[in-house]
Amino acid sequence: MRILGFGGSNSSKSINRELVRFAASYFQEHEVEILDLNDYEMPIYKMDRERDNGIPQLAFDFARKIDGCDLLIVSLAENNGAYSAAFKNIFDWVSRIVGRKAFGEKPMLLMATSPGSRGGASVLEIAKTRMPRSGGNVLETFSLPNFNENFEVGKGITNAEFRMQLEDKIKSVKAHFNP
Ligand SMILES: Cc1cc2nc3c(=O)[nH]c(=O)nc-3n(C[C@H](O)[C@H](O)[C@H](O)COP(=O)(O)O)c2cc1C
Repeated sequence: MRILGFGGSNSSKSINRELVRFAASYFQEHEVEILDLNDYEMPIYKMDRERDNGIPQLAFDFARKIDGCDLLIVSLAENNGAYSAAFKNIFDWVSRIVGRKAFGEKPMLLMATSPGSRGGASVLEIAKTRMPRSGGNVLETFSLPNFNENFEVGKGITNAEFRMQLEDKIKSVKAHFNP
């Protein structure tokens, strides 16, 4: 199985990318690729731009990565209660490719984390509602609150309860592929 992960953030120190790396570590027997959204930075979506110059190649490249995977592991950064601009811009451009839904009807483990006590609950709710209409088959969702207290790079989730919650969800995701 090919797994594609990314944090919905363009921060070089993205905590969401760390959470994706940790979740992906439960799939070591599979092929895992973690994308950096900085490699897909495009001009801000604008209808005039699309009309004049078409869709940037990077949007097609991102779509091809999605199309080549069997499972998406995504963790969204929350900016002012919603998607980061970096993620939303890629989402918007990819959604303009004719004949596709942005997330290619792929199964998805959808997560969010933030340093705050709500753990990105607002962006997670937005995405959970939206993804099915944009071709994301959300199998499970998970939110990790208070990232700095509950996660250590190298160790992963240090809070036993949250760790168990994620492990249960990963089991359920795996069961989707091996019922
Ligand atoms: C412009 C901006 C808006 C933010 N808004 C929220 C917010 O609404 N909720 C929240 O929990 N954290 C918010 N944060 C804090 C982010 O959760 C924090 O920066 C986190 O590290 C983002 O994830 P990342 O490291 O993966 O980019 C905001 C940060 C920025 C820079």
